Amino acid sequence: MDRPANGGLHVGLIMDGNGRWARARGLPRTEGHRRGADAVRRAVEAAPGLGITTLTLYAFSADNWRRPAAEVSTLMRLLESFLARERMRCRRRGVRLALIGRRDRLSPALVRAIEETERATRDGARLYLRLAVDYSARAAILAAAGTLRPDERCDENGFLQRVNRACHSDPDTPSVDLVIRTSGEQRLSDFLLFESAYAEFLFIATLWPDFDGQDLRRAVEAFRRRERRYGGLTPDKAARAANRPRRDFGVGNAPLPAGGFR
Ligand code: IPE
Ligand code: IPE
Ligand code: MG
Repeated sequence: MDRPANGGLHVGLIMDGNGRWARARGLPRTEGHRRGADAVRRAVEAAPGLGITTLTLYAFSADNWRRPAAEVSTLMRLLESFLARERMRCRRRGVRLALIGRRDRLSPALVRAIEETERATRDGARLYLRLAVDYSARAAILAAAGTLRPDERCDENGFLQRVNRACHSDPDTPSVDLVIRTSGEQRLSDFLLFESAYAEFLFIATLWPDFDGQDLRRAVEAFRRRERRYGGLTPDKAARAANRPRRDFGVGNAPLPAGGFR
């Protein structure tokens, strides 16, 4: 599942830099988070027009519980009001919203808001929007591994489905094509580790509250200029190799010889 069957893109977005955005303006960090919620709406509105059919937004990591309690509770309240505010808007726009991550550490009111939003938007077919909350990719991988019976065989796609199930996602969610991180940091911070095996990465300096549809468009354009090889050769090299007498083992897109590598 490294290419979505429907040809649409799966983009993962690490929405970073809210605190720095606020600090640069002499505002409390929470103001950065508030403004960050507006940037979420802009990204969601721009995504379908850019060929994105799945968008995974990193909203709160399992490690973000380490932050001061006041900041955590502001983030949770913002999330709850975001869901209440955006629910019908998502529904009208064909957006299916789901939360991926743990739910047992969230407040009952927030869990209700999540379930209500998932129910209200479940028929959305234009964009599958996953909000990663109390999310850890390593935890999802461990949970998926825990579902395997001893000696059970499982290929990569089968395991991807288990990873998806482990974090409450649609099991058929494809791997990620492009991961974007704002704010200049260049790390994954435990986001979609299994799913981004062949993703392209884009690290941009924009702080998340300033992110808009143009940034997303530029990111997708940059992605489309990249050449994804999946371990093969560039198309012209593959063509040249195909015209050479064969003394190799399965170059480019040529099938591997029966019996595997020689
Ligand atoms: C991202 O912004 C939002 C969350 C992680 C919840 P930050 O709060 O990490 O902002 P910086 O990195 O401190 O600027
Ligand atoms: C990652 O950002 C999580 C989210 C964007 C929600 P952090 O700001 O928490 O990541 P680190 O601590 O800089 O790696
Ligand atoms: Mg940060």
